[in-house]
Amino acid sequence: MFNKLLSNRIKNTPSSFIREILKVTQKPEIISFAGGLPNPISFPSEELKISMQNITEKYGNKIYQYSTTQGLDILRQYIVDRYKKLWNMNISIENVIITTGSQQALDLIGKVFINEGDTVLVEKPSYLGLLQAFMMYNTNFIQTKLNDDGLDIEELKENLKVHHPKLAYLIPNFQNPTGLTYSKENREAVFEAIKDEDMILIQDDPYGELRFTNEERLPYIGLNQTDKNIYLGSFSKIVTPGMRLGYVIAHKDIIRALETAKQASDLHSNIFGQYLIADYLQNNDLDKHIEKIKALYKSQASAMVEAMKEYFPSNIKFTIPKGGMFTWVTLEEGKSALELFDKAIAKNVAFVPGDPFYVKETNVNTLRLNYTNADTETIKEGIKRLASSLREF
Ligand SMILES: Cc1ncc(COP(=O)(O)O)c(C=O)c1O
Repeated sequence: MFNKLLSNRIKNTPSSFIREILKVTQKPEIISFAGGLPNPISFPSEELKISMQNITEKYGNKIYQYSTTQGLDILRQYIVDRYKKLWNMNISIENVIITTGSQQALDLIGKVFINEGDTVLVEKPSYLGLLQAFMMYNTNFIQTKLNDDGLDIEELKENLKVHHPKLAYLIPNFQNPTGLTYSKENREAVFEAIKDEDMILIQDDPYGELRFTNEERLPYIGLNQTDKNIYLGSFSKIVTPGMRLGYVIAHKDIIRALETAKQASDLHSNIFGQYLIADYLQNNDLDKHIEKIKALYKSQASAMVEAMKEYFPSNIKFTIPKGGMFTWVTLEEGKSALELFDKAIAKNVAFVPGDPFYVKETNVNTLRLNYTNADTETIKEGIKRLASSLREF
């Protein structure tokens, strides 16, 4: 009865495809590569227990009180210091706002920048959480193909020339969904192509710290163009996702606009969590903790890759992740991953068909596998089951 009363905004936005899939994959007999959950054994729960005690004693009732919209200064300062160290970023706490996960940052950016019908350039495929968030603002998406070494530069140039996007949204490190990373040369070429455009580049980087190899950190695209860059970071994949804490680094005027939008959304992000994570970061070595997560995910990624090499039919292609949480599988031309999904579920293994990561295409021949949330034996068994569905398919 109330359906006709719903806003067009909500009527036109599908609910998250992954959440729908996760309902099917809850059964205990199913091995699921569908979610994107960090491994709970990577959470620093003992250290956080100590921090809980610390903040109760140190801050008293402040940890339960309303707080400022930009976020806790000690946490913002930690972020400033960290990014000075990581990329030599020239920033102060005025350039940082704490958000309720990066997901909220995406929504706030949509609120702040997108008028109905504005064009946003995204990767093809792109993060479905971004597509869903920006769909709410009636965005005109333009997708640019991803290659093994990053964004397709010719297509990027053509899209810039024809469509003049207002924003570009990229995930240069261990992308979700493909696991791909832009090479140094590709980053430089992207910067050359966009540097004179009247456009803001959003770099979403929840996985950047999870590099399995010892290669040096790849450059941030357009480090010195501070008024045209928005960087999104998150504690979800390097501490815990349940605290829902992320951050935006940008020009202070952009931060101020985001702050206004955030006031209207939630006044501020959970302050208890902010005190907790700030204390954890002050009293522990985050880099050491990240090393542990990387060792764990590296062994899981390699178990999945080795099993795919051994069991998948030879016409199936897949990316070999150097970090992050995902690998991306390509079936033969013309095959539908959605159809494969039904066959795989019958064999008690699940994945995410590629469709929701594209703007216009359906029944695509690609799919996403997550390897962080199962042990190596289970990964091997799941890949065997998937291989058997592939052969029947
Ligand atoms: C590319 C990307 N951006 C943003 C998010 C949202 O993360 P958060 O937990 O910080 O909201 C995710 C989560 O999976 C992601 O993959």
